[in-house]
Amino acid sequence: MALSLRKIACIGAGYVGGPTMAVIADRCPDIDVTVLDLNAERIAAWNSEDLPVYEPGLAEVVSRARGRNLRFVGQAEGAAYVAAADAVFISVNTPTKTEGEGAGKASDLRYVESCARFIAAHATGHTIVIEKSTMPVRAADCVKSILATARPGVTFDILSNPEFLAEGTAIRDLEQPDRVLIGGERPESIAALAEIYRRWVPAERILSTGLWSAELSKLVANAFLAQRVSSINSISALCEVTGADVEEVAAVVGADSRIGPKFLRASVGFGGSCFQKDLLSLIYISESYGLTEVAAYWQQVVDLNQWQKRRFADLIAAPIADGAGSLRGRRIAILGFAFKKDTNDVRETPAIDVCRRLLARGATLAVHDYRVTPESVRSELGALGVEVAATPEAALAGADGVAVLTEWSAYATLDWARLAGRLKVGAVIHDGRNILDAAAVRRAGLTLRSIGRGAQPNA
Ligand code: NAD
Ligand code: UGA
Repeated sequence: MALSLRKIACIGAGYVGGPTMAVIADRCPDIDVTVLDLNAERIAAWNSEDLPVYEPGLAEVVSRARGRNLRFVGQAEGAAYVAAADAVFISVNTPTKTEGEGAGKASDLRYVESCARFIAAHATGHTIVIEKSTMPVRAADCVKSILATARPGVTFDILSNPEFLAEGTAIRDLEQPDRVLIGGERPESIAALAEIYRRWVPAERILSTGLWSAELSKLVANAFLAQRVSSINSISALCEVTGADVEEVAAVVGADSRIGPKFLRASVGFGGSCFQKDLLSLIYISESYGLTEVAAYWQQVVDLNQWQKRRFADLIAAPIADGAGSLRGRRIAILGFAFKKDTNDVRETPAIDVCRRLLARGATLAVHDYRVTPESVRSELGALGVEVAATPEAALAGADGVAVLTEWSAYATLDWARLAGRLKVGAVIHDGRNILDAAAVRRAGLTLRSIGRGAQPNA
């Protein structure tokens, strides 16, 4: 008889677990969905009107399903739901290891392992365990060996179902994915999970592979995306010195259908919780198989990104530093702190590196963001020399320099004619996302430096 998944549980109520399960529950009213997390505060937030994750459209999806077939519970209460579940997703964090073998590169699987132990302790009958977290290739072996410690008669099958959503567009990505990937060994388990996605995803977009290919494909997809950003960012530096315009170059290059236009926006650098972590994981795996050239190739994508962030900070500092290179007494307005627009997430945001570099040189920063809380800014930068501004106008008051670090749409329509008077005379505006209306900025008599654009005529 074909397997049918009627009750599912998901361990981990973060940026992936919460939205993914909310969409599954929304699309499958007949499936009972429980999301559990060790973090009681996060669970309380998921049960409130003030969700812990900001994503356009998420609140509506949650409000349709929560209290019907979607619930968020703490770990203790979650045990019974794991026991009753036909399938359990593991959607916990897999950060870069900070100690032990592979520190600084390998993915830390301790949270995944603890989930596997929890499932082994509580599951009953036959349970499909689904890796939703991003894992190193062959990590399923480690999960399997933990599950093998379960009570006699309790059986498991394991699937890899990595998530490709991007923050800021998570709901759209989940509702209309380019593809859903299911890796596994048993066709009946793959079919049971595919049956859930089939409710709203066309069959041809549901790809099935072996376990190891699924695990590796996820790392490789992120590595390729990050590589495109580092590629165009390397060209941005070349454009600035030659007078070429990176936007024009990207448009021409991207018009080749073999290359395509996406992920060619030059920027202050890529951020987010996954690109660097997943690149480092790929590098570590390559090294551990003795593939040093492969590791070095991908390491360059990381290095270029670090360089771009340093380079951008130094461009901001150059016109206002004193003879000794100090920024003491200089105030810099930072517009945007999130790693991209439409999210409140600051993990690995390029703003952290840029701001820390400016602070280290003695600058005072006035940071504005539409969604990032003052606490998040302070926990990354500390309080010394850091002011969190409630509006862009407040951040700009008395600034010697301005840096746009996140591409929030509202920054694109700032009224520079009105704002120019708030800045110190001679202040330079550095657009790290190329979203400002260059003509409007210049009409206001201000100097604009855009990433990947040589000095402009009246700059
Ligand atoms: P996150 O940190 O937002 O959430 C993880 C949650 O897991 C946390 O709330 C944490 O408290 C909980 N947790 C950890 N160990 C637990 C345990 N033993 N029991 C119960 N709860 C536990 O992480 P995230 O951004 O949702 O990422 C999760 C995974 O998905 C990672 O592997 C990541 O690489 C991958 N991923 C993330 C994104 C993204 O956009 N953030 C996209 C695709 C894939
Ligand atoms: C990325 C991938 O796009 C998702 O497919 C993947 O699931 C996810 O990582 C993950 O595994 O966590 P995300 O990091 O949320 O999603 O956001 P992206 O849109 O990929 O942006 C990543 C960073 O690259 C951001 O800082 C963004 O500003 C930057 N970027 C992106 C550029 O600088 N230029 C571009 O052209 C595109």
